[in-house]
Amino acid sequence: MLHGKKAVITGASRGIGREIALTYARCGADVAIVYGGNSSAAEGVAAEARGFGVRAVCRQCNVADFEQVRGVTEELAAELGGVDILVNNAGITRDTLLLRMSESDFDDVMDVNLKGMFNFTKHLSRRIMKSAAGRIINISSVIGLTGNAGQVNYAASKAGIVGLTKSVARELAPRGVTCNAIAPGFIETDMTAALPEEASAKLKDRIPLARLGKTADIAQLALFLASDAASYITGEVIQVDGGMCM
Ligand code: NAI
Repeated sequence: MLHGKKAVITGASRGIGREIALTYARCGADVAIVYGGNSSAAEGVAAEARGFGVRAVCRQCNVADFEQVRGVTEELAAELGGVDILVNNAGITRDTLLLRMSESDFDDVMDVNLKGMFNFTKHLSRRIMKSAAGRIINISSVIGLTGNAGQVNYAASKAGIVGLTKSVARELAPRGVTCNAIAPGFIETDMTAALPEEASAKLKDRIPLARLGKTADIAQLALFLASDAASYITGEVIQVDGGMCM
């Protein structure tokens, strides 16, 4: 489905990003795994990806650092021989109520979740425009659409991604590049494993399909959006949330 395509995925050392990278690799894409934390997890993802017979490279990079992203994206594009698909997935939370939220809680989340997305999109868009079927896929959240107590910073960053996605979609459409966002509900990853048992049970009561999502639920949509089958879809925000926010 993605044979011969070259994809860059941020935050791909674990969770949703890892699943997307491995799904793309399984479908024939060469993948660049960008990660923020320790290299062994990312190297493990790359090794698994190579098992599908594709090329896989890893780069540690703070997505929030404009100049670092410039350097890393240049290296990756040269190593892969171009870029067709960018998945902006790296994200963090610093949850607390507004009254307790510090300036750095706010700034850190905006810098990684929203500015990080700008940085990668800005530095890779020229390369992606050279692709015959360029694709940008941004990972937002249903929290960006509904808001959530205790997540003023995160909700603002994820809502910002909606505006960024639609604007990039309009700017790059004349070059045949699509840009869409996925808004996951609650997905089983390290991020949600931090939730106390009681909060997790309450959550399930609010989800019509009565379960947390799996990383594959997101990766399958990311695969579709990256494929030729989705060439006429752009500027969309698609929820994958078990019906929670319909
Ligand atoms: P995770 O915490 O398991 O993984 C996050 C990834 O981002 C890791 O690979 C980490 O190294 C990377 N990262 C963090 N800060 C970075 C930085 N400054 N520079 C480069 N990489 C950095 O997270 P998860 O759950 O897989 O989430 C992935 C995305 O999906 C995030 O954008 C998150 O906001 C979003 N999301 C997750 C939901 C969930 O329920 N897990 C729900 C809705 C959205």
